[in-house]
Amino acid sequence: MIGKTGNIILKKAGLCFSLLMMLLNFSACKAVTAVSDVQTPAASTSAAASNQSHILVAYFSCTGNTQKAAQTIAGATRADLYQIIPAEPYTSADLDYNNKSSRTTSEMNDVSVRPAIQGTVENFDKYDIVFLGYPIWWGDAPRIIDTFLESYDFTGKTIIPFCTSGQSDISTSESNLKGLSHLQGVQVTWLDGKRLSADVSETDVIAWINSMNLKVQ
Ligand SMILES: Cc1cc2nc3c(=O)[nH]c(=O)nc-3n(C[C@H](O)[C@H](O)[C@H](O)COP(=O)(O)O)c2cc1C
Repeated sequence: MIGKTGNIILKKAGLCFSLLMMLLNFSACKAVTAVSDVQTPAASTSAAASNQSHILVAYFSCTGNTQKAAQTIAGATRADLYQIIPAEPYTSADLDYNNKSSRTTSEMNDVSVRPAIQGTVENFDKYDIVFLGYPIWWGDAPRIIDTFLESYDFTGKTIIPFCTSGQSDISTSESNLKGLSHLQGVQVTWLDGKRLSADVSETDVIAWINSMNLKVQ
């Protein structure tokens, strides 16, 4: 079931997205493989939080764009990297936005869907800052990001959303994630989200991070 407001938002996002698709005509690919490890930064970084905070970069990616950006953020911040892997992987057919019955279309039409995640973040409690990355689907964050946020206690943590997309910005997804009932009344600091290109440079990531007044626990 989707609420009236959700329907309107989805329709608007759908309209913009359909137009965009006509222009870009990009295609869905296979699910990317897991990145299991912490990324070791090759370059030195002046990122404000790098030496003081425990940072996690958690991300979901089906065609590799968000994964690339996540790897760059993790490298620039000396963070641990965690890939949100769906228990049931998304196939190319699942990712078909032209098919009204595809899995992703159905999921994005139902705000209550919570696709299961394979595995968990080890020692989640130790992290002060969580970068949370995802592709934009129909103007919003994929429902599996809701699953992720509802799977952990974020009390005292700072969340920094980031996304990749064909063109859509991050704002709708950001406000929907903040509005999740699981997080209401929880002391969480949300920093402004950012849309990144898959090939964002480490220098640009560091400039972005330094521009935030990161709250270190
Ligand atoms: C089901 C689906 C819906 C999408 N919806 C949008 C959208 O509304 N706006 C947009 O700009 N891009 C949209 N895209 C494009 C993705 O956001 C973009 O390709 C993204 O970088 C993919 O990230 P990934 O490679 O990490 O999976 C959509 C892609 C898929 C598969």
